[in-house]
Amino acid sequence: MVVSPPPTISRSSPRRFAWGVSTSSYQIEGAANQDGRGPSIWDTYCRQAGRIANGDTGEVACDHYHRYPEDVGLMRRLGVTAYRFSVAWPRVLPKGRGAVNEAGLAFYDRLIDALIEAGIEPWLCLYHWDLPQALDDLGGWTDRDCAMWFADYAALIARRYGDRVKRFATFNEPSVFTLFGYCLGGQAPGIADHALLLRAMHHVNLAHGAAVDVLRANVPKASLGIIHNRQPCLPASDAPRDVAAARRFDAYWNGAFPDPQLLACYPPGLADAIAPYQQPGDLARICRPIDWFGLNHYSPIYAKADAGNPLGAGFGDVPAGVPRTSMGWPVEPHAFRDTLLDIHRRYRLPIYVLENGTATDDKIDPSGEVADPRRIDFLQAYTAAMFEAIQAGADVRGYFIWSLLDNFEWGSGYGPRFGIVYVDYPTQRRIPKASFHWYARLIEASELASVEPDAHDAGPAAPAAGARRS
Ligand code: FCB
Repeated sequence: MVVSPPPTISRSSPRRFAWGVSTSSYQIEGAANQDGRGPSIWDTYCRQAGRIANGDTGEVACDHYHRYPEDVGLMRRLGVTAYRFSVAWPRVLPKGRGAVNEAGLAFYDRLIDALIEAGIEPWLCLYHWDLPQALDDLGGWTDRDCAMWFADYAALIARRYGDRVKRFATFNEPSVFTLFGYCLGGQAPGIADHALLLRAMHHVNLAHGAAVDVLRANVPKASLGIIHNRQPCLPASDAPRDVAAARRFDAYWNGAFPDPQLLACYPPGLADAIAPYQQPGDLARICRPIDWFGLNHYSPIYAKADAGNPLGAGFGDVPAGVPRTSMGWPVEPHAFRDTLLDIHRRYRLPIYVLENGTATDDKIDPSGEVADPRRIDFLQAYTAAMFEAIQAGADVRGYFIWSLLDNFEWGSGYGPRFGIVYVDYPTQRRIPKASFHWYARLIEASELASVEPDAHDAGPAAPAAGARRS
């Protein structure tokens, strides 16, 4: 088994640090029709012919709903101090609002208690894309009222778990689920309409602000953030039209959510388009003080001009010679370092890397083990890039691998394997991969691991206006 040594960590690195793993409800829980869970837009989308590779669905997934004790046991073995998961909104509110499903709430009680018992801090994300179908039937994120439905759901979660959970993220990757779900295609609810995209974006921003207020009011000592997928948008060529396309794509992908949430403005290039959906006072409703910036990063994006795309920009080719993962995503760790520094300078908040990892073509070998040297190389290069960013001044306070388990990778179904634990889907057997052991050694060797993360991120000395809790 090839296991590279962990990167060295400088003594001058910051000491508070959370080492973790991440998952999401629809991708691992299964039990889609059990104990009163209502349908989500992903249940509906998966049933539509041709949407998901191989006709896969999240109906069973990793059966985490029943096997969570084993999964928490794996995390304990791994040595992580934090676990990020999401609550399935339709599991606790089957119709999205109104009647509560006690059995669904009790599942997360059991999970949270098991984590705390294992010495692992729960990081709860309210929304990882599984909108209740009943709300989508009313317009979902294209309806301004959805922000209030979300705030009511946030209040339920805050009151139920706020005695034990302090780390809350409002959304996972708002730019990704709005762009692909409402305009570009490829994700639930499968709408392709630029005007509806703009509405959905603004309403998700309003929902974020409303939920932050609700969480702050209901959870003593809450530590609040949101998780953004941030990738440098680079032009696929030097042609001026590609350079302009990259700038436009960047506004939608990287700016549309963090800028209004943390700087109280939409990025130029998007502000005029969003204006018709705004009401007086909206930016103040959206820009509520939060405690940290959650970053998901996998690669840069190469954008090109594309007249047929409603954004006028689309995905270009990755330059020849750049290595790629089995998803076709470019492997460029320096872009990760630059992204961390860029976020640090622009938003002046503590940063938690809440997703980073890669899909590799993993197989069980004849001895029953799973060797994944390409994942280890990837993680080694990316954690080294993170340490460079920390040494250059970025206030990075945690790193979470995507993902603990192989799982349902949205439109790609169960083909791509992102886990550091292999899941043999027919038997649901879990096999820690070589990268699991590599990560355990990294955590053990790290000076950053020895200090428990502080529930109250102190933040930098000079915060940007609106970017910090007052
Ligand atoms: C991110 C998603 C996560 C997973 C990884 C590979 O964009 O947040 O659910 O699919 O990509």
